[in-house]
Amino acid sequence: MNAISDVIQNRPAPLREFDQIYMKAGDMVLQAEQIARWADKKHLAFIGDGDAISICCVYLKHRGILPYGPDKVTVFDFDERMCKSVERFADAERLVSLSSVLYNCLDPFPGPTDFDCFYTNPPWGASNQGESVKVFVERGMEATEYAGEGVVVIADDPELTWPKEVLASLHSCNVFLAPVSTGRRPTESLRIDDPVRLENFYGREKTPRVRYVKERARLDYGKAHESDYLLDLLETAE
Ligand SMILES: C[S@@+](CC[C@H](N)C(=O)[O-])C[C@H]1O[C@@H](n2cnc3c(N)ncnc32)[C@H](O)[C@@H]1O
Repeated sequence: MNAISDVIQNRPAPLREFDQIYMKAGDMVLQAEQIARWADKKHLAFIGDGDAISICCVYLKHRGILPYGPDKVTVFDFDERMCKSVERFADAERLVSLSSVLYNCLDPFPGPTDFDCFYTNPPWGASNQGESVKVFVERGMEATEYAGEGVVVIADDPELTWPKEVLASLHSCNVFLAPVSTGRRPTESLRIDDPVRLENFYGREKTPRVRYVKERARLDYGKAHESDYLLDLLETAE
């Protein structure tokens, strides 16, 4: 749990606008164990990863907490804060097999495309018939040239109907995908700009308008920012 807590402390504050709703600690333990086991000794691409399951898989193996895990992991995310938090953690803990690429999945996939498998926890497509899920999964498949396995986290809650909010209480599940054929099929990766595919991408009336979320440079990264708090002084100090 302490190793997972290190990872949680490293995550940037979530932006609800882009469907960043982070997994909680207990779920992260279960998820990291399952994904590390599934991707043992593999080269694994994450298409978006605010939860930081990528870091957990590599870190838990590195610390000897799990006996298995992927050999190499790359995170593709359009939020520079995510990418940099991955890089900072990898640097601090000397995780040489972990890296990130700033990438918006509406753009052609930048490569490389020699991954063995992919993982994605996409926007759940509540208001676009799952189209946003398809976009993220498509990029994952391109990363493996349609030859690798994949895991997609999607909504799975019989108690709730879609018009209800996709918030913390919504349950989810992992869907494991396997390719029809293991022969690699490199294909031209195309930009996604069809307005029909983009409608309600991040939820009702939330069409993509941002290419990247950029990080503001700060020297005090990881410490509370002065604008977050006020000091109410002791009388003796006034
Ligand atoms: C869509 S969120 C899904 C919820 C998940 N629990 C989380 O918060 O990470 C997953 C990741 O996808 C990233 N993401 C959102 N839109 C993206 C896009 N257009 N291209 C690439 N990554 C994107 C987010 O920054 C986030 O890290």
